[in-house]
Amino acid sequence: MRHSGQNIIDGKNSLSIDAAVRALLQDLLVAIPTETVYGLAARASSPSAVKKIFVLKGRPTDHPLILHIAKTKDLSLWSSDLSTEARALADKYWPGPLTLVVRRNNKVCDEITGGRDTVAIRCPSHPITTELLSQLGDAIVAPSANRFGKVSPTTARHVAEDFGDEIDLILDGGECSIGVESTIVDCTTNPPQVLRTGAITVDQIQIDCDITVAPASGESRASGMLEKHYAPNCKVELASNLKDAEERFEKLNSDGRNVEILDFGADHAMYARQLYSRFRDADKRLVDVVIAVQPSMTGLGIAINERLKKASNSSVNAQPPLD
Ligand code: TXA
Ligand code: MG
Repeated sequence: MRHSGQNIIDGKNSLSIDAAVRALLQDLLVAIPTETVYGLAARASSPSAVKKIFVLKGRPTDHPLILHIAKTKDLSLWSSDLSTEARALADKYWPGPLTLVVRRNNKVCDEITGGRDTVAIRCPSHPITTELLSQLGDAIVAPSANRFGKVSPTTARHVAEDFGDEIDLILDGGECSIGVESTIVDCTTNPPQVLRTGAITVDQIQIDCDITVAPASGESRASGMLEKHYAPNCKVELASNLKDAEERFEKLNSDGRNVEILDFGADHAMYARQLYSRFRDADKRLVDVVIAVQPSMTGLGIAINERLKKASNSSVNAQPPLD
């Protein structure tokens, strides 16, 4: 995709926020930074603006969007039927990388939810987007700002690479501090279910809030959890440790393949922050195979392993270590 980059504006400048607010009020789309990944935002109260997201992303209309609110208190504006768990999780983790699926009220338009009676809501913590939301005085809906099926963007430049000048404004808020999408918890089931793993883990929720969250099952599985959803163009292979990765590297390399190893040791935060960037980079440099060393299944490692598994789209070449 060719792009001039001229639509990228510095989010730290208050004039940029003003421009983004004006654009949203005119029903235009604006790319926004969040602590997880960049989002492609439209004003939530404008069905015609919301529709533009599906067209631009090439996203099926039955893939519902996440509503982003300015402050925790705004949750009750969009849902009139909140469970005790939903309230407790919002109080504990917002603003932050957690999305709650709750029953929606009639302020939420059908375009956002694909006609479902539930809506996914989150209160992001990135200061630029918090400021944007409070000046706008409305919520925004924002899927990750990538073309459908591609990896999520973690810098303003990634968004420009996917969409070129097709987005009016891209608010640059620097590199996303987490780098993988928010944890999604469906609070309409009993017990609540985790639909997508992220920085906030099931174990952490149990410890912090004494709430048991079950694995996803049945209908409530997030539709964004398609196979191969987080895949780069190059092949991704999984390795259970660095030694295994290096052995495979040697073999593939001697077969003349362009290979790269992804390994961040025990630094899960760095792995999450760099993962999508490294995938995009590998594609740019026409790498044939990325061999990703699986992090341990603790903390952010769980979310990273989930993305790696999807990217490799295989029945797991190797099991991640338990610790
Ligand atoms: O970190 C994030 O959550 C980022 C940033 C931009 O906030 N957003 C994001 O949005 O990842 P998106 O559209 O790429 O993923 C939204 C996920 C999809 O898997 C969708 O199926 C699920 O949320 N979802 C949305 N509404 C839902 C609902 N009512 N019930 C179940 N799943 C829902
Ligand atoms: Mg997405």
